Amino acid sequence: MNFWTQLPKPFFALAPMEDVTDTVFREIIASGAAPGRLHVLFTEFLSVDGFLHEIGKAKTGHRLEISALERAILDSKGIKLVAQIWGSDPEKFHQTALRLTEKHAFDGIDINMGCPVKKIVRKNACSALIKAPELAKEIVIATREGTRLPVSVKTRIGFNATETQKWIGKLLEVKPAAITIHGRTQKMLSTGVADWNEVRKAVQLRDSLNSDTLILGNGDVSSYADGLEKSTTFETDGIMVGRGIFGNPAFFADPDVINQDQSIHLLKKHITRFSHEWEGRKNYAILKRFFKVYVHSFDNSTALRALLMKTNNFKEGMAVLKEYEAVKHSLVNLVNHNTP
Ligand SMILES: Cc1cc2nc3c(=O)[nH]c(=O)nc-3n(C[C@H](O)[C@H](O)[C@H](O)COP(=O)(O)O)c2cc1C
Repeated sequence: MNFWTQLPKPFFALAPMEDVTDTVFREIIASGAAPGRLHVLFTEFLSVDGFLHEIGKAKTGHRLEISALERAILDSKGIKLVAQIWGSDPEKFHQTALRLTEKHAFDGIDINMGCPVKKIVRKNACSALIKAPELAKEIVIATREGTRLPVSVKTRIGFNATETQKWIGKLLEVKPAAITIHGRTQKMLSTGVADWNEVRKAVQLRDSLNSDTLILGNGDVSSYADGLEKSTTFETDGIMVGRGIFGNPAFFADPDVINQDQSIHLLKKHITRFSHEWEGRKNYAILKRFFKVYVHSFDNSTALRALLMKTNNFKEGMAVLKEYEAVKHSLVNLVNHNTP
């Protein structure tokens, strides 16, 4: 079944982000999301070459893991999970789609046609497909022939220069269930400002062609309210949020603010869940990248973060947080006892 067509509009998705949107982070974000504010999650991107190769699979298979806890939360909230894949060989997309479908774990398959990283572009994959639209179309078709799940595409507005209509027009020919459009070219990487007028042009093109493909806008969405406004102004069916989540782990909550105690509580939960899922399999350094998500913009947050960054393992990280909480608690008690 094509779940995309069942979503209310505008719908919200958390962007696929390598080393960020693993099962643990997805679980945390999904569990804090208010009803109706988060509809679709994506895995980190996974190479079809790696997936179909024994050694490669052992190295990158973790990207497809879904914990029982995440599964339960997604099921209870009706949040969909899409596996994102990348590569350049249509046959490998076909084989990967067959196997992903057999896993019965995903609601959709998304093809990455946007990643701008040079070593990937050199392999004629991801954003390089913008320069090879016929191959891009073959890949969509080959993937779809390997699955009953809906197949979507995530891409940009051009390679060196903006060419939204030409490129999206090509993609629409093969009728993806949805296209996410990040309003930057490959050349821009993550610099400058996402051009949402180009996203709107894609929507208008879709409408003029009477196509059923849904369009998600992506780029610089800073809050849930900003997403709602952008979807109205630029007429998108959906909104995808990437780095906005780094500034606010309560992005999809209502109200979408959390206080210092709640932030620390979430970080402790993240450390506990991360160590449970990944201890011995993923480096502690990957977890360290999340500290700034939870520890910022409150009194002494910079100092606390510096202490956390010096830790070497889960136990040390938790110890710093517990000590911080104890000191803070004592300070509050001291002030209360001495306030007339
Ligand atoms: C750390 C990081 C990892 C990313 N990994 C992926 C990925 O695996 N697949 C993908 O399609 N895009 C990836 N992206 C791009 C985001 O999905 C998104 O398109 C981009 O950040 C723009 O949206 P934003 O301005 O809301 O962050 C990544 C971005 C970041 C910051």
